[in-house]
Amino acid sequence: MKKRLVLIDEDVLALTELKQRMIASQFLSVIGEAHQIEDVWKVLQTEQPDLILVGSLRQAEIGVLCQQIRFVCPQVTVIATCSAKELHWEPFLRNLQIWVLAKPVQPEQVELLSMQPSPSSYMQSGMGTGAPLVPMQSSPSAFAVAESPVATPAYLAKKEKPKHLITVYGPKGGVGKTFLSRELAVYFRQVPQNGRPLKVLAVDFNLDLGTFATSLNLPRTPNLFTWAQAIDQQIVAMMQREGIDSETAGPQEWQDYATSLRLGADEVEPFIVVHEQSGLHILTSPREIRQSFEIKDYHLYVMLETLKQSDYDVILIDTAPDTSDATIQALFFSQRVVLVGTPVVDAIENIQRLLKLLREAEYPEERIQVCINRLQRKEMFTLEEIRAYFQLHPGKTIFSIPDDDEVKRSINAGMPIMLGQQRSAARDAIEKLAKSIVTMEDETAAKKTAKPKEKARSSMWSWLRR
Ligand SMILES: Nc1ncnc2c1ncn2[C@@H]1O[C@H](COP(=O)(O)OP(=O)(O)O)[C@@H](O)[C@H]1O
Ligand SMILES: [Mg+2]
Repeated sequence: MKKRLVLIDEDVLALTELKQRMIASQFLSVIGEAHQIEDVWKVLQTEQPDLILVGSLRQAEIGVLCQQIRFVCPQVTVIATCSAKELHWEPFLRNLQIWVLAKPVQPEQVELLSMQPSPSSYMQSGMGTGAPLVPMQSSPSAFAVAESPVATPAYLAKKEKPKHLITVYGPKGGVGKTFLSRELAVYFRQVPQNGRPLKVLAVDFNLDLGTFATSLNLPRTPNLFTWAQAIDQQIVAMMQREGIDSETAGPQEWQDYATSLRLGADEVEPFIVVHEQSGLHILTSPREIRQSFEIKDYHLYVMLETLKQSDYDVILIDTAPDTSDATIQALFFSQRVVLVGTPVVDAIENIQRLLKLLREAEYPEERIQVCINRLQRKEMFTLEEIRAYFQLHPGKTIFSIPDDDEVKRSINAGMPIMLGQQRSAARDAIEKLAKSIVTMEDETAAKKTAKPKEKARSSMWSWLRR
């Protein structure tokens, strides 16, 4: 049986041509099309296609539109067809398990993709054992919510502020992840945007042995565990409303309810600890190790989805040196990953293994910044040797931060070096790394050209680059 295909694009001529060329297809039949956003939801609801080819619509960014379609029609294969100007969405789309084709599209390409499973995400690469980053709606009535464009879930319809989601990761303990997370977070906090400081949140995803709060002399209550408990209360309430006994509900049911739970953007607030000197907000790891065992994948999923919708301009996640689901979810949640190691053979070996895993999962390498911390004047390995070992692109910078006694003092005193008066080589190096993270963002923003709201943002980033 032929697969049922819906075409979406405002370019009517191009669609007509593609349709003509598809008539002969043995595998696909075009059953509907939409040239404007209003028609998209109607055609998806009435035609219930197997496959959707999403192109450009004036009223919607292709990435946002695909995300909405993926949400409303989770079981349908989505192929995004991007113009050169839209190709910067590719990593984002791939992460949503959406195929991406560059325009002009050939019928054979669509036929070929219609026979493939979705593009690899970390789940399909066997990297995680928990919930996929974008869990599939299990509800068969998903189409019921798509009655009109207004029925688009409110949390998706909301205009999202540009956000910077950064994970600091290193597959070895003691290499400086927490130190770097703290300094980067404080640094971003100090950069004003349109005359106001950025809203910055640091999240301690080292659930069992995190020390982020300690590194700022802060209490560890409330924390991620108290938030997880509050999430469970909401899920129980949802189950009760539907007559389900939460005591006997299985893990799959909890997972399903968590997937459909939509927290408001401000629901993170009660679980935040504030660092008064810098104004940094922190979601700390639990006080006790056994509480960390109670934080499940579905909690992490709900938390990250809520954070994505929150008001924070920058969200920085500190992680554990492991490949737990918390860590993997953080990596796939982020637009930038700072991969930290020290110039010792075991740290370097583990970074190499991690890079291999990410490459196998087709993780976009341009998101990764490699940073070698605690560099001493004489090292066994030069940065160039390390680059060659990691097989990094020759154009990619490896960042380094010198070993500095001041760092140890600043950790013990709970006082970020970014808040001190003194300049030091370590501080300068961290600022350089911070600027590289936001400069890359600036390039992405520049590609999106000529949108007034983007201009305000790029002026901030150009301020940063001075
Ligand atoms: N650049 C540096 N110079 C000197 N000591 C450092 C530096 N970076 C980290 N350290 C030391 O390493 C210790 C471990 O750092 P931490 O950030 O807790 O590592 P991780 O989070 O990766 O386990 C810190 O307490 C600090 O004493
Ligand atoms: Mg740490």
